[in-house]
Amino acid sequence: MTISDYVLGMPKIELHIHIEGTIEGQLLFDIADRNGIKLPYETPDDILALQNSNKTSDTESLRSFLECLDASRGALRRDTDYYEIAMSFYSRAKQENIQYAEIMFDPQQAVRQGVPFEGCIEALCQARDDALERFHVRSQWIMNLQRDFSLESAVETLSNAEKYREDIVAVGLDNFEVSNFPRKFLPLFDLARAQGYHLTSHCDVHQPNSLNHIRDCLNLLRVERLDHGLDAYFDESLSQDILERGIGVAACPTFYSAGESCPDKTMECIRGMLDMGVLISLNSDDPVQLGSGWLSSALASAQASGGFSDNEIKKFMQNAVQSSWMERSQKTSLLSDLNDY
Ligand code: ADE
Ligand code: ZN
Repeated sequence: MTISDYVLGMPKIELHIHIEGTIEGQLLFDIADRNGIKLPYETPDDILALQNSNKTSDTESLRSFLECLDASRGALRRDTDYYEIAMSFYSRAKQENIQYAEIMFDPQQAVRQGVPFEGCIEALCQARDDALERFHVRSQWIMNLQRDFSLESAVETLSNAEKYREDIVAVGLDNFEVSNFPRKFLPLFDLARAQGYHLTSHCDVHQPNSLNHIRDCLNLLRVERLDHGLDAYFDESLSQDILERGIGVAACPTFYSAGESCPDKTMECIRGMLDMGVLISLNSDDPVQLGSGWLSSALASAQASGGFSDNEIKKFMQNAVQSSWMERSQKTSLLSDLNDY
């Protein structure tokens, strides 16, 4: 994949990236060794092979990806592991010219593996502060709760987060959505809204009942942004609603495609929503564990597969700024940088 100088040099914003999906091969193997964990792969290259092991349908692709993600993030056993993977991401973000990122983390997974909630969030916040000083990358943390875990576990996690309210900008949902409907988390979202968090949720692409998931996320959970959410394009009234309400759509063009060409169906939704004027942005999701690639390569893939002009790629970044939760002064400054670019 060739990446143009225009894409490489563009000031970038990333709104949909999971810190546990950014762990590069050698770092992952070092962490696993240190923690005495045997990974289900022999070499870093095997990670994608496992991830690709069952692609018989979009649902099986999601399941097999999540199994692979669990194997990788299962090696994280100490707060220092979280610090290290975050710093590794930030150094990559600097190379990518990412100016600002809203990064997701999954504390339930950390706690299950013996890393206390406090240790995990404090390590991530330390990395955020160190990265600002060292790499000049600004960022905020989004706390994701897992859809396949119970409501009680999510509510308990939210209450553990109370002390860190100022360090967590938003609450979201991720993991396996099939049969885990948004309604299950209504009390959680009501609590999170009352505590002043911004709200977002994954609505993975091309899954069973996608449209119902999206509708319920918008109307019951009242999220301000959708992670993925592209299937809405296939329903005129739903996509119109997203447009009129100014809901951000944090899309990932290389989802399921291991960084190569983007699936046609995904491209059709991205193109359609951009042309409608929806606040759609392009993001990387899980650059290593999903093989979706770092942001520049995801943008280059989208450009190659979807025929987006340089100005349209810039528009995705402007949409990201508009639908982000950064401070107003930072929005103004980044919009002006993009405008001049
Ligand atoms: N966890 C990490 N990435 C995810 C995705 N795209 N969908 C659901 N859960 C995830
Ligand atoms: Zn995601």
